[in-house]
Amino acid sequence: MRYLTIALTKGRLAFKTLELLEQIGITCDEMKDKNSRKLIFTNEERGIRFFLAKANDVPTYVEYGAADIGICGKDTILEEGRKLYEVIDLGFGRCRMCVCGPASAEDLLRHHELIRVATKYPGIAKDYFYNKKHQTVEIIKLNGSIELAPLVGLSEVIVDIVETGSTLRENGLTVLEEICDLSARVIVNQVSMKRENVRVTRLIKDLQSLLQEERL
Ligand code: PRP
Repeated sequence: MRYLTIALTKGRLAFKTLELLEQIGITCDEMKDKNSRKLIFTNEERGIRFFLAKANDVPTYVEYGAADIGICGKDTILEEGRKLYEVIDLGFGRCRMCVCGPASAEDLLRHHELIRVATKYPGIAKDYFYNKKHQTVEIIKLNGSIELAPLVGLSEVIVDIVETGSTLRENGLTVLEEICDLSARVIVNQVSMKRENVRVTRLIKDLQSLLQEERL
């Protein structure tokens, strides 16, 4: 039997996903070893194989069919804009994509000034400012510690993920506008949805039932 391949996002999301999969009878003990450098893990009994990838790469593996299924954040799905099916909201990893900055930047947003926006998510930022707000801005791509940008004068505002809000608070910044809610999602390759329909559908149904039980 062909392995059903699942791409997981390295880090916290992978551990949460494994916990969930375990509850529907899909286990993979060797993957829990935090010190392991192994990249691919198999569950021979169920004919399932897992691999760990960087968040941004998960939709790529799924679009090209290197993984039948992927689990990643909605932020990554929006940013990558890949051709795939988004089938379940897993409900964990909840956070928000927001425009943030010092409170003084509120006026710049209100008056649609030509400001600089630093972000790890240029696609999401561009869509928000150009297509939804119709505000012309200069988008600057950064790779991390985005909150630094307005503090050192690189940009007036940032587009970034806000979870607890403590990074903003500790740096004198605030949420100025909310773009969207985010959480972990299950994505499926479009061909796998047909070719592996029975196995993919079973997995989706098992996960949905589990989530429903948890909600009750
Ligand atoms: C994320 C995000 C914010 C922070 C938000 O960064 O980019 O900086 O978490 O969380 P909070 O609202 O709970 O403070 P991450 O820690 O992933 O690292 P990064 O700065 O390298 O992107």
